[in-house]
Amino acid sequence: MTNVTKNNKALKVKAPIVEALKLAYENPTYQFHIPGHTKGNGTLTDFKKLIGAKALSVDTTDEFDNLGTLHPATGPIKEAQELAAKAFGAKKTFFLLNGSTAGNLAIAMGLTKKGQRILTNRNCHRSILTGMIISGAEPLWLVPKRFDDWGIWGNVTPESVEEALSTHNDISMVWITNPTYEGVVSDIKSISKICKKYNVPLVVDEAHACLWNFNKHLPTPALQLGADAVVHSLHKTGGSMSQSSMLHIAENSMLDVAAVEKALKLLHTTSPSLILLASLDAARANLESQKGKRQIERAIQNAKYLRREIEQMEHIHDLKPDFGYMTDVTKIFIRADGLSGKRLESILEIEFGIEVESASDAGLLLLSNLGNTRSDMEYLVKCLQKIDKSHYSDIYYMENKKHMPMLTPIIKMSLREAFYSEKETIPKDLAVGRISAEVIAECPPGIAVLLPGELITEEHLPYLTDYDFIEVIK
Ligand SMILES: Cc1ncc(COP(=O)(O)O)c(C=O)c1O
Repeated sequence: MTNVTKNNKALKVKAPIVEALKLAYENPTYQFHIPGHTKGNGTLTDFKKLIGAKALSVDTTDEFDNLGTLHPATGPIKEAQELAAKAFGAKKTFFLLNGSTAGNLAIAMGLTKKGQRILTNRNCHRSILTGMIISGAEPLWLVPKRFDDWGIWGNVTPESVEEALSTHNDISMVWITNPTYEGVVSDIKSISKICKKYNVPLVVDEAHACLWNFNKHLPTPALQLGADAVVHSLHKTGGSMSQSSMLHIAENSMLDVAAVEKALKLLHTTSPSLILLASLDAARANLESQKGKRQIERAIQNAKYLRREIEQMEHIHDLKPDFGYMTDVTKIFIRADGLSGKRLESILEIEFGIEVESASDAGLLLLSNLGNTRSDMEYLVKCLQKIDKSHYSDIYYMENKKHMPMLTPIIKMSLREAFYSEKETIPKDLAVGRISAEVIAECPPGIAVLLPGELITEEHLPYLTDYDFIEVIK
């Protein structure tokens, strides 16, 4: 063995679940247990062909084949969680199925109680709200800055956090989304200092930021800035499979880790997919590897290239990482003069076969991902150049529909009380003046238009064009 090969072996990043699953695949057994498709034999042939026999033969849960268990974490799953904790700089990492949604639910269910107040931004994800419906805690809203030209929410200011904490002495947790869906970054370092001054834990919903730990040109991750816990949707930008995420508890966290773990056990499926768990293990190992680091660098360079090209365009503009607030360079929010975001999205999709992350009233969001090549970006640039030089116009019905809720709520009842109250379903046109009984927060971005207990006003109607009926309090 040459020195180079030896060194490469020494550098190989460990992925215990991937290794265990590989071993199970190489040593097949006669199976008389779930899943009943038994290596794909008991399902539709077309599905087996599409997914692949190999993938179906490693589709198993944590009950078999020495693969370890998720609750409590044992064997390769425990080892993989420990490696992830080390990679992300956490005291403890939990692998999540059902996405970061499961992490947010567990934090709310395990750590908050009926009547407690949680200081959180109005544009938080609906999973935080669902968590509060479960626990009975109440949101105290921070209304972030609004970037009206771009039709998006901006950052949460440290001053607004300080003001809330100094005027309300019943806040039991500060829970900030960072970055926003469009990549706007808040000053978590200052917010964390303020939380420590008031002795209140800080949880950061970093669902969109799992790459930050692996490249110094990206913003600093909240765990390094004093947050007590964060969630990461590894499946969004980190390379794991859909639905798989992580919850990290910080080294010096003031949170009760055992309470979070108990809540997770209750919330999780009792048949966790080993494929999803292995994909988390693989994603973490990849991000730590030289190859993964190169992929992140490429994503950043591709984003910069796209932004430079957009700079040359006359009618298409990007939300710049240096427009006065920090942003994550890999999330490129663009708008085109005279076109709604939805119209631009449909031109890209129908005429050029390009699918974007999301579109809102003003613009659309493109992600420069680990897996995108330079030629993907070059194609995108060519298409945007064509749009820039053409005379597309907006379509009336698209203009009338709003997608990014930026409303300040009028609260009439507590969230949980309203959710469990007697309700009736009425035509939307009769709903103005009534109190909402449902969570209306379409994904993406999963940000609330209306929550149980909030007054329905005329302002809500443009966001409700897909609804004919609405549930209100009786
Ligand atoms: C800010 C934020 N938090 C949490 C979530 C939930 O993440 P997941 O889809 O992994 O459950 C999302 C999903 O879009 C999100 O945008």
